[in-house]
Amino acid sequence: MRILVTGGAGFIGSNFIRYMLSTYPEVQVVNLDLLTYAGNLENLADVQADSRYRFLRGDIASERDVDRAFSLGPYDAVVNFAAESHVDRSLHLGVDRFIHTNIAGTQILLDALRRRGGGRLLQVSTDEVYGSLGERGRFSEDMPLAPNNPYAATKAAADLLVRAAVHSHGLDAVITRCSNNFGPYQFPEKLIPLMIANALEDRPLPVYGDGRHVRDWIYVEDHCRALDLVLRRGRRGAVYNIGAGNEIPNIELVRRILRLVGKPESLIRFVKDRPGHDRRYAMDAGRLRRELQWTPSYQFDDALRLTIDWYGTHREWLDHVRSGEYRRYFEKVYGGR
Ligand code: NAD
Ligand code: TYD
Repeated sequence: MRILVTGGAGFIGSNFIRYMLSTYPEVQVVNLDLLTYAGNLENLADVQADSRYRFLRGDIASERDVDRAFSLGPYDAVVNFAAESHVDRSLHLGVDRFIHTNIAGTQILLDALRRRGGGRLLQVSTDEVYGSLGERGRFSEDMPLAPNNPYAATKAAADLLVRAAVHSHGLDAVITRCSNNFGPYQFPEKLIPLMIANALEDRPLPVYGDGRHVRDWIYVEDHCRALDLVLRRGRRGAVYNIGAGNEIPNIELVRRILRLVGKPESLIRFVKDRPGHDRRYAMDAGRLRRELQWTPSYQFDDALRLTIDWYGTHREWLDHVRSGEYRRYFEKVYGGR
């Protein structure tokens, strides 16, 4: 199997590439990534020399770059992780890059798949496209899309473009919508790695609003296994929710992290809330469990401990990411090519 992965130098994409290379001896992966602030080739340093893996720097919203990637095919599948992925950036730093990558980039991939063929597209989407829940209920795949922040709106737009390409042009595509991920190599702007990093360094832990917002957490490796199943066995045109049933209010999660790191709750700081902050996410992943027999392999507390240990033993990675030092890695490894 030959796969084009886009956005593979980010958090989930790099975990997915590692998962596929270690699970399937025959797989070949081309990774097309623009290396934005969130893309870090250090995440893939251990597979860099694997002859089954190849990195290509490029923008999914550039026809030329996407053509270059397709000329390294043919592919059996394209897995699209490439995105601007942080809600707070979409709220405070402008929406242009979100529209560029998440919407225009997805359409350019769809056009290339139509023109050149490329097997199945797996569009990696998010539970945020459904909006927010009250105290009860869970998101199911047939709920209307009701995104509440610019990031979520651009991901919902991409889902609709994929849906339209399936219906209008008979493209083979599947969409997954996953809940909040955590695990190794997550950029420390997201809740769990930020809190771990700050706790390790005795810095304040900023909790938005009253901290009673609920997220449904999944360990990244469980997400990767679900993606692999959907890629191989999912129904053409179908949407699959992915979630492990770990609903936790933010403040409770932050307290657990402090306990595990061995730091006092006095580090917690309640700060001004995120505008339009979604109150609760919870996934109904029944379709994935029934049709593809997926179940999560990790218990939440074990996975949280593993993640804390990983950040504790990868201080250099953390320093590089925060100082921008990781950009030099690209120059060192790819600069002369
Ligand atoms: P990330 O921000 O860690 O990584 C994004 C990657 O995309 C980076 O390597 C970046 O360099 C690359 N990229 C950005 N713009 C690009 C462009 N124009 N062309 C090529 N590459 C580009 O994100 P992540 O957390 O790994 O998320 C990956 C995907 O999964 C995203 O589509 C996101 O919406 C989705 N998702 C994430 C979560 C989560 O909890 N992190 C949950 C559900 C779904
Ligand atoms: P985040 O990791 O940004 O993911 P998302 O917004 O996609 O769910 O945030 C997870 C939750 O944590 C969300 O309710 C916002 C909250 N949060 C904080 O309270 N403080 C922080 O510093 C961050 C980054 C997030």
